[in-house]
Amino acid sequence: MIITDKYSFHGEISVPGDKSISHRSIMFGAISDGITTVSNFLQGADCLSTISCFQKMGICIENSAGQVRIQGKGLHGLRAPSGILDVGNSGTTTRLISGILAGQPFESFLDGDDSIRKRPMKRIFTPLSQMGAEFSSFRPDVFPDKLLPADSGCAPFSVRGGRLNGIHYQSPVASAQVKSAVLLAGLYAEGETSVTEPVLSRNHTELMLSGFGADVTSNGRTATIRPQPKLEGQDIHVPGDISSAAYFIALGLLTPNSEILIKNVGVNPTRDGIIKAALSMGGKLSLLDERTVSGEPVADILVQSSSLHGIQIGGEIIPTLIDEIPILAVMAAFASGVTTIRDAQELKVKESDRIAVITENLRAMGGSVTPADDGMSIEGGKPLHGAQIRTHLDHRAAMAFTVAGLNAPGETTLDDRKCASISYPSFYDDILSLAD
Ligand code: S3P
Repeated sequence: MIITDKYSFHGEISVPGDKSISHRSIMFGAISDGITTVSNFLQGADCLSTISCFQKMGICIENSAGQVRIQGKGLHGLRAPSGILDVGNSGTTTRLISGILAGQPFESFLDGDDSIRKRPMKRIFTPLSQMGAEFSSFRPDVFPDKLLPADSGCAPFSVRGGRLNGIHYQSPVASAQVKSAVLLAGLYAEGETSVTEPVLSRNHTELMLSGFGADVTSNGRTATIRPQPKLEGQDIHVPGDISSAAYFIALGLLTPNSEILIKNVGVNPTRDGIIKAALSMGGKLSLLDERTVSGEPVADILVQSSSLHGIQIGGEIIPTLIDEIPILAVMAAFASGVTTIRDAQELKVKESDRIAVITENLRAMGGSVTPADDGMSIEGGKPLHGAQIRTHLDHRAAMAFTVAGLNAPGETTLDDRKCASISYPSFYDDILSLAD
C-alpha cells in the first residue's frame, strides 16, 4: 500500500467499539449469572482472543452481526481449559484473565505471540501471588520447546488458582491492567481488596463491574472491592474507541481543508487526554451531544483543519492518553515549536518499544526527535517526507504513521498494514471513505 498527501478528508465516521470495554464485557459476562449481550463489540483480533479463551473454559459465546451473546456460568462456573489459552497479541487479555484465573480451583497455561512473550508479567504475578495464586513462567513439562530463562516473568506462564485472601496493594505503576487483575481476583478473595495507583488509570473495570452488581468503590487513586455471591448478566452497548478516534482527530486537524465528525466516541475522563492535548495544541475540536451510554460518557467529536503548536505533557495526563502517544507524536512533528512528553516510560513495554519505534519512523520521515527514558522531545515544523515505515507489528504505529504519510509529500509505505486489525480491522476502508 502506498500512502500519499493528495487528499483532504470530509464527512462522518463511526469508529469501532472500545477495545478495553469490549474485553471486559466478555470477561464479566462469562463469570456472571444469566445472559450478557454486547452491541458494537470490537471485532479486533485482541478481543477475539478474549472470546476464544473463555470458550476454552466452557463458556458459550455467540458472535454474529456485531452482537455478542454470552451465557454466563457464574463466578464458579469456569472449567479448566482444554488446552493452552492463546492470548495472541493482547496484554489486556493476559493480565485481566489472570486475575480471574487466580480465583479458580485449577491450573491454566497462557501463551501468546512474540510481542506478548516480551511484555512484563511480574507486575501481575506479584500482587496475585500475595493473594495466594501461584505463577510459574517457565514450565519445561508443558512447553518443552521454549528456551526461556527460568522465571522470565513473561509468557508463557502457568497460573494455579485457589483460595485467595484480600490485600491492599500499592501498585508501582499506573496500569489499569494491573488494577483490574487485582480487583478481579478480589471477587474471589476473603475480605476486602484494594489497589492504590501512583496516578489514576482508566476506570472501565470499576464502572462496568459495578453495573454487573459487584461491590466496588473508588476514592481518588484507590479502588476497593468486596466479594459478592454473584454478578448479574447485563446488556452493554460499547462506545466507539477514543484510541481509534484519535487517528481521525489527527487526520482532521493536520490535513488542510478537512472536517470530520466522529460519532459515538467514549470520552471517559480517564481516557480523554488526547482531546485535552489536541485542544491545548490549538486544535479546532468540539464535543457535541454529550451523553451517558452503559455507564460511560459518550460524545460526537467535530474536528477541523488547524495550525497546531507544541505542548509540554507529563504527570497525571499520561495514563489518560498512553495509547495515543504514537499519534500525538505525529501531530507534534507537524506542529510548530517543541513538544515534550515525560513520565511515559510505560511506552517501552507496550506492543512494541514505542519510544524507539516513534523515534525511528519520525526520523525516517525527516522529523527531529530526541528520545528519553520516559518519553521524548519533538521539534516540530521540520519538512517531513514520505518514507518506508517499520511498524514492528505494532497496530498503533501502523495507524499513526499512515496519518503521517497522508500529510507528508512523497510516498510512504508500511512494512505491515494488517497489524491494524488488532484494534481496528476497517481502518484503511474508513480512511478512504472520507477522502476527497
Ligand atoms: C488497557 C490498559 C492500558 C492500555 C491498554 C489497554 C486496558 O494498559 O495501554 O491498551 O484495557 O486496561 P496499562 O493499563 O497496562 O497501561
